[in-house]
Amino acid sequence: MNTPKRYTITAALPYTNGPIHIGHLAGVYVPADIYARYLRLTGNDVAFICGSDEHGVPITIRAKKEGVSPQDIVDKYHKIIKQSFIDFGITFDNYSRTTAKIHHETASEFFTTLYNKGEFIEEVTEQLYDAEAKQFLADRFVIGTCPKCGNEESYGDQCEVCGTSHNATDLINPKSAITGATPTLKKTKHWFLPLDKHEAFLKEWILVGHKKDWKSNVYGQCKSWIDDGLRPRAVTRDLDWGIPVPLDDAEGKVLYVWFDAPIGYISATKEWAKRVGKDWKLYWKDKDTKLVHFIGKDNIVFHCIIFPAMLKAEGSYILPDNVPANEFLNLADSKFSTSKNWAVWLPDYLQDFPNQQDVLRYTLTANAPETKDNNFTWKDFQARNNNELVAIFGNFINRVVVLTHKYYNGIVPTPNEFTKVDEETLAKLKAYPTLISSSIERYRFREALGELMNLARLGNKYLADEEPWKVIKTDEARVQTIMYVALQISSALAILSEPFLPFTSHKLKKILNVSSSAPDSYRNENNWEDVSNKETLLSAGHQIAKAELLFSKIEDKEIQVQLDKLEATKKVNEADNKVTEPQKDTITFDDFKKLDIRVGTILDAKKIPKTNKLLVLKVDTGIDVRIIVSGIAESFTADEVIGKRVTVLVNLAPRTLRGIESEGMILMTETPEGKLVFVNPGNIKVGNGFKIS
Ligand code: MF3
Ligand code: ZN
Repeated sequence: MNTPKRYTITAALPYTNGPIHIGHLAGVYVPADIYARYLRLTGNDVAFICGSDEHGVPITIRAKKEGVSPQDIVDKYHKIIKQSFIDFGITFDNYSRTTAKIHHETASEFFTTLYNKGEFIEEVTEQLYDAEAKQFLADRFVIGTCPKCGNEESYGDQCEVCGTSHNATDLINPKSAITGATPTLKKTKHWFLPLDKHEAFLKEWILVGHKKDWKSNVYGQCKSWIDDGLRPRAVTRDLDWGIPVPLDDAEGKVLYVWFDAPIGYISATKEWAKRVGKDWKLYWKDKDTKLVHFIGKDNIVFHCIIFPAMLKAEGSYILPDNVPANEFLNLADSKFSTSKNWAVWLPDYLQDFPNQQDVLRYTLTANAPETKDNNFTWKDFQARNNNELVAIFGNFINRVVVLTHKYYNGIVPTPNEFTKVDEETLAKLKAYPTLISSSIERYRFREALGELMNLARLGNKYLADEEPWKVIKTDEARVQTIMYVALQISSALAILSEPFLPFTSHKLKKILNVSSSAPDSYRNENNWEDVSNKETLLSAGHQIAKAELLFSKIEDKEIQVQLDKLEATKKVNEADNKVTEPQKDTITFDDFKKLDIRVGTILDAKKIPKTNKLLVLKVDTGIDVRIIVSGIAESFTADEVIGKRVTVLVNLAPRTLRGIESEGMILMTETPEGKLVFVNPGNIKVGNGFKIS
């Protein structure tokens, strides 16, 4: 497109069924924020839009699990997500939510417009129904085998393995995610968007128009869906959580979450425009606006096929210029999973690594899953910080600032004659804005970050070659020039690092005394192009502030804490997956009645020498005080169990273990980690028996 007049940048609206994790950050929010910050820094008009995706089945499922209402769930997580984005320095111009009134209105209106234009097919069809739960099954309420790739755990609307989007009735062997039942078919009326009708347009727009500029993974997925043939897709659901279908004969029906959520970008833009006194229409309807959607690869079909078909059918909107979807980031070689708690949660990171947002931003960008799935490990995080941020970027700045104070009391010296090396170094420096821009504008953020680090490397090499600390003994005039050049590089780093490492950029500007702005303010005195165009970025005579470390080393013990956390999660998941033991043979009521189970207290405990497992316990059963030998020493020390209230089988025939007669047994169960725990009867009187009811 021609030079855009303005940019509308969207980042996928996160489902409000849990906090944000670093997989989301790497795939969507960090690249989107780099892009938005970069565009603002280069003087563009930008609307950077996001919000919470609060409808849809994932929310309902989470609410059921926690025993609260969907509204409670979205209120809770919306607040957590919004705050963690702010704390992490993601500079949305608006972070809205799809339960907002303005969104309900916008989405209803959009639906009505399409309805009135005759863009839907209204049809009664047979849909999957769970008779036990008395509920239609769509989307994540139904799991079955993907007709395309054979994944046995595909959802009703989309397979997470191959990314295909399908209708729930396409699933092979479907099962209700609510009750596990095999669904029956039941008739119900819905409104369908006939994607087949838009096939010619999609072919022309994507397969011809965007063959060159869209990422090959995005283009390839689109091509494969279009080649498979597009079919009508239902945009309504029989559910009680969502935006009511705005028609008279649609009682109990809501808009499909993937119909309403992308419209959320529009509603959030409206909300923002109203707040700041702008015209939202320019950001969505003016052909000189460049619209870019940042998403993960599982969202491609919705942003490249379905939403554009909706926008086209409506008729007055622009279409995305690009959809730079990323592949997935894995965590220590396994897929992130909210339900399995296999994640590094952003709020936890912010708590465990305060003021170290940029270390994570750096690691996630350097490792961004731009062309293939990638992996996050804590060891890599530590190495990137210690060997790159500290050793290259931080080290360069520190040397420059310390020497400037040492030789010139913090005042930028007047340069003398430039040598060939100086000229070359300054020329290289001036080339960086274009180098980095060109990568960012092609959505190659890791390449862009690599160039930024090359500039820091250039600085380090320059100092190492010119050795001002040696030259100072023989040629003070030369050192003035060297330090002047090094300070220009430092200043360029402060400017060019802002999109990637905003907190560092801010700190560095403070050290160089060139800005007093807050970390999320978008402007500083020198801008991006000044690095190429200005004769000097930091003039002779300018006073810099005192030295401060930009980065600090991350120690092994901090990393160990994180590794231990993941290890504990792994154990819990393994235990959850452990097959429950099958039921034992049936017993009669009389058999059961024979058991005399009582509340007791452990009065004393001693380890039996030369055994691993056995403790000898003195237990008050209420009837008497007796000796019980118990195999719990691998889970408890003797001291830990003294005073514990426990459940005891008291009429078990005595048995002699290691020469000690044991009269009874303590009832135990196991934690997910495999540690034994007492079946603790709480504060019940010792001697009380267990009643049968
Ligand atoms: N909530 C969806 C997800 O997390 C993304 C929605 S993007 C939007 O996968 F376009 F629908 F907003
Ligand atoms: Zn599949």
